[in-house]
Amino acid sequence: MNASTIKKQHTVSAPSRVKALHPVSTWIRARKTTYAYSFLDKDIPKSTIEEIVTNGLWAPTHKMTQPWRFEVLQGDHKNALGEYMLAYYKEKLTAAQFPESRHAETATYAKNATLIAIVFQRSQRIQIPEWEEIAAISCAVQNMWLSTSAMNLAGYWDTAGATIAYCEEHLALRPHEKSLGIFYVGYPVETQELPKRKRKSIDKKLIWNFKK
Ligand SMILES: Cc1cc2nc3c(=O)[nH]c(=O)nc-3n(C[C@H](O)[C@H](O)[C@H](O)COP(=O)(O)O)c2cc1C
Repeated sequence: MNASTIKKQHTVSAPSRVKALHPVSTWIRARKTTYAYSFLDKDIPKSTIEEIVTNGLWAPTHKMTQPWRFEVLQGDHKNALGEYMLAYYKEKLTAAQFPESRHAETATYAKNATLIAIVFQRSQRIQIPEWEEIAAISCAVQNMWLSTSAMNLAGYWDTAGATIAYCEEHLALRPHEKSLGIFYVGYPVETQELPKRKRKSIDKKLIWNFKK
């Protein structure tokens, strides 16, 4: 999908005020969460994953602490994560909350995804509030997410309890490190549609505060 395609789709379905979007706005608004069970069975080249993660590394950080590292979980991790989720939800949820019809899908959830574990590394060298470093890593993930959309790939940031617990058990986290979940990347089944999850309008979220 290129920027002009997105713009055309916006023009068809959105009010006239979005017609004059800057190209960066079209990319931002085309990004969406796409769940991993819908990814195609197709490997993403290593160089593409490295480009996506490098874009993450270009996020801003206060005092340049760069409080992150990423780990691509390969091989049996894909099966093991699905099996782990299945066991986790069977134990924590009731049969009504997690019906048998969802078990097979959960066990194979990650089979077509590239799994990028997101590891928060609290700065040891420079003291700044933790929230600033979490904010920075969120900027990194957003860079990665926008990159996947711009590359006709799909992404999803998963911070569910099962996923964090899996990372805590299977990654060699050091005392100053914390799992912030997994970013899944894959090929979407179809050409990406515009996101359906609507946002509140700008008049509810932006005030122009003018002091005389
Ligand atoms: C920090 C963060 C954590 C998230 N964790 C989850 C999650 O665990 N499960 C989930 O279904 N979606 C998760 N999401 C995705 C959001 O549900 C999604 O971004 C939101 O519904 C808006 O949809 P969109 O990404 O398509 O615009 C997470 C998003 C963020 C920013």
